[in-house]
Amino acid sequence: MSDLLNGKDCFIQKGDSRVLIKHIPDKSIDLIFTDPPYNIGKHSTGNIPLPGRAPMNNDVAKWDLVEFSPEKWAEDFIRILKPTGNLFIFTTYNQLGRWYNALDHRFDTSQFMIWHKTNPAPKVFKAGFLNSCEMIFCCWNRKHTWNFISQAEMHNFLESPICMQPERLTNPKHPAQKPVSILKKIISIASNEEDIVFDPFMGVGSTGIAALSQNRRFIGFELDNDYYKATKRRIEDWKHLNGKV
Ligand SMILES: C[S@@+](CC[C@H](N)C(=O)[O-])C[C@H]1O[C@@H](n2cnc3c(N)ncnc32)[C@H](O)[C@@H]1O
Repeated sequence: MSDLLNGKDCFIQKGDSRVLIKHIPDKSIDLIFTDPPYNIGKHSTGNIPLPGRAPMNNDVAKWDLVEFSPEKWAEDFIRILKPTGNLFIFTTYNQLGRWYNALDHRFDTSQFMIWHKTNPAPKVFKAGFLNSCEMIFCCWNRKHTWNFISQAEMHNFLESPICMQPERLTNPKHPAQKPVSILKKIISIASNEEDIVFDPFMGVGSTGIAALSQNRRFIGFELDNDYYKATKRRIEDWKHLNGKV
């Protein structure tokens, strides 16, 4: 399917990425950069009322309740990734070990990064630590791409606010929309211009916007029609704004 880019910089499709990934040729992707379901919604005790504000979304979303098995993705991820490719996966405490077990022994190196959110949702009853960190599991083989310039940017720690207005979409609202600035930073370090970035769980297309704005090509899949349509609109708007049409 990466052939279907056919001179274009972007190919997005609505559908089940478990099925669609089978159409991606072997060793054709430079960077898999994705944010799959976390399966943390099932631990929720319900949305949290906040005085004078909209309730805090603790339930995540329906898509997060569908059982997700990292083990089922390892084989296809390894098949489509070029030997020089990199793999970055946003994940959670309950799935980090599963990604590690599924992928670490298949790569030369694995590591994790922390994205620290400077403005996490508050816990008004002080019943525990704030959920202010998100993990990113990453792995690679020798001869992969690393575009580090200084030691300072080599910390496995990134910091930014969560996605806020005007970047955050309101219709549809996606509870896990990632800030493009964080994605751009990783894409610029872990891939080169013209490389193909693949996101099989693209949500409202943040990885796509980050990839295109770094002069990478992008392939993305999304199951939900509203999120897919929002990605399509977002990419079209981005192209108009940046004179790419
Ligand atoms: C954590 S969100 C990704 C959010 C994205 N990073 C963004 O910034 O918008 C995970 C997404 O995966 C989608 N999804 C879940 N299972 C899928 C599947 N089998 N195929 C394609 N998309 C799927 C969900 O609908 C959801 O939008």
